[in-house]
Amino acid sequence: RIAYVNGRYLPQRDAAVNIEDRGYQFGDGIYEVVHVQDGRFIDEDAHLSRMERSLGEIRLAQPMGRRALRQVLREVVRRNRITDGLVYMQITRGVARRDHGFPAAAVPPAFVVTARRIPGFPASLEGWNLRAITHPDLRWARRDIKSVNLLPNVLAKQAAREQGAGEAILYEEGTGQVTEGSSTTVWIVDEEGVLRTRHLDHAVLPGCTRGALMELLTGSGIDFEERGFTVEEARRAREAFLTSATSFVKPILAIDGESVGDGRPGPVTRRLFEIFARHVK
Ligand code: PDD
Repeated sequence: RIAYVNGRYLPQRDAAVNIEDRGYQFGDGIYEVVHVQDGRFIDEDAHLSRMERSLGEIRLAQPMGRRALRQVLREVVRRNRITDGLVYMQITRGVARRDHGFPAAAVPPAFVVTARRIPGFPASLEGWNLRAITHPDLRWARRDIKSVNLLPNVLAKQAAREQGAGEAILYEEGTGQVTEGSSTTVWIVDEEGVLRTRHLDHAVLPGCTRGALMELLTGSGIDFEERGFTVEEARRAREAFLTSATSFVKPILAIDGESVGDGRPGPVTRRLFEIFARHVK
């Protein structure tokens, strides 16, 4: 596998991180994941816009213009001979002697792009689903920034794995309000049949798949509200599913061991999967 590292294309095994990289020491950096289907970069502009925003929010300069960046992404995908896969981009505040404050302005950010194959968009929902657990959201107050600080997400996903589940639905302790999944956006079809996902603010990542699906909803006749819900509401929901660049639209069949609806993907989820399939293919 070939990686892009600060202006060079290197075999990934030769591409090493400096032990004083600030991403490594402080989690001082941001990342993006873009899905590649048949060589096309799905929702690319939304991902690049979000990356630019994340950089701005942590006061890191853009590593290069958007045109150049698009070229780098294509070159990494080409060199790895990927048609269906994902690209991972990461920018950290570079290498400097350990000190919490920013390093001197002359220290260049470290910019890395990797890519790998993943199976293409699933032909049907058969086998495309998961069971979820609920888990307290233990993250910081700026989850809208796609920061590489993922320890609470890592621990939540691992808790899910250890309970035989594929995702952890995170909720605010106290209110029980669902924020999102450890690496996904969570949606439900509530007891009234209304499709819902949480509104955007600093408490969640503005999912690019979420944004794309919301646009695709226009004219579908599906009753939709950008309105949060509690863990209790999710448990009582008719349907639940999640979205992300790599899980697309994925049904949640059970929450904490209890079936959602009849334990099979519901009609709204099925329709959204079909609608999203047309967007990707
Ligand atoms: N995760 N919420 C969180 C916390 C995420 O990490 C992600 C993406 C999403 C969905 O965003 P999008 O639809 O833009 O992929 C929501 C990526 C895939 C990851 O960390 O690998």
